[in-house]
Amino acid sequence: MTSPDTPIAFSAPLEQYQEIKDEIDEAIARVLNSGWYVLGREVEEFEKEFAAFCGTQYAVGCASGTEAIALTLMALGIEQGDEVITVPNTAVPTVCGIIMAGAKPVFIDIDSSYHMDPKQLDAAISKMTRSIVPVHLYGQTVDMEAINEVARHHNLCVIEDACQAHGAELRGSRAGSLGHAGCFSFYPTKNLGCFGDGGAVTTDDPEVYERLLLIRNHGQKKRYYHQVRGINSRLDEIQAAVLRVKLKYLDSWNERRRNLAAVYDSRLSDVCGVPFEKDGNCHTYHLYVIRTRNRESLQEFLKQNGIETLIHYPLPIYSQEAYRDINRRPEDFPQTEKFAKEIVSLPLHPQMTKSDVEYVCDKIIEHLNAGSF
Ligand SMILES: Cc1ncc(COP(=O)(O)O)c(C=O)c1O
Repeated sequence: MTSPDTPIAFSAPLEQYQEIKDEIDEAIARVLNSGWYVLGREVEEFEKEFAAFCGTQYAVGCASGTEAIALTLMALGIEQGDEVITVPNTAVPTVCGIIMAGAKPVFIDIDSSYHMDPKQLDAAISKMTRSIVPVHLYGQTVDMEAINEVARHHNLCVIEDACQAHGAELRGSRAGSLGHAGCFSFYPTKNLGCFGDGGAVTTDDPEVYERLLLIRNHGQKKRYYHQVRGINSRLDEIQAAVLRVKLKYLDSWNERRRNLAAVYDSRLSDVCGVPFEKDGNCHTYHLYVIRTRNRESLQEFLKQNGIETLIHYPLPIYSQEAYRDINRRPEDFPQTEKFAKEIVSLPLHPQMTKSDVEYVCDKIIEHLNAGSF
């Protein structure tokens, strides 16, 4: 049995920096020496490169994934009280973005792949519904074909929350190009992350693109002439320069994630629930989430053995203290409720080695086979 010298951390942004330190240091120095720090050449170039990567006409950098969602809804003309349908098992920021834009989140339940269940959409659509925000949770795309079809039928826009799905594919098309717009976060531990906060919106819609450029910068194109009401949600030059370097590695880092996930799959599929890749998908394993009963004892055992785990997410959003006024009944969400009690996210990042993963598997199998819980 292998036992690594260092504990297995859930993520390793420092190790990732060290792997490409020279290129990153050079990019940051280039910005520092340029004397131009917000919305400049680096942001423009990154926007072109990221749009090309996602397969869209446009990308607009902004300050975070949360604001990418809010800005997109604002650009689409969402109004106070409009309803936006999403899922309750997502990260709270999905809902923060919807509320920031003045809209009301409406939840529907998920399917067995942790994603919005398209079959439940029709019943949730009301006269006030303006948009659907499905979440490509954990790094795999939702059933966009079915969701887009319902949206077309009701004349609604679909905005992908792609904050966990940089590079994920559905039938050869990438997350961010599968709906009306795609929203990304570049938080440091994302598959594509910077060294602070950052975000972007991708789209093929020239009007949405133009409005996003305005709204992220106080509604001005010409300095001090404000055409529409906006906010400050700008991506800075240092983060854009870092993202330009890291974007070149994203495919190979995602491939490493996939290879490590395959090791987890092969070792763990007999002892607990493991993720599955849906037909036509390329899963990028932002998170590797297993399911097991009594996860607390497993998490405790792994912690004692130097292995860090997390839960994404322990409470459905309607059960979070801050969002109970959304007032949904847990019994309306059987799949969300069941999974919330069983999920555990294991360490998985491109700087992990195969033997790290083997060690985590050894420990999980040891604990689950002992039945000591
Ligand atoms: C699914 C999802 N949506 C939205 C966000 C918000 O991104 P940010 O933290 O950059 O605001 C995140 C990031 O945590 C996320 O995982």
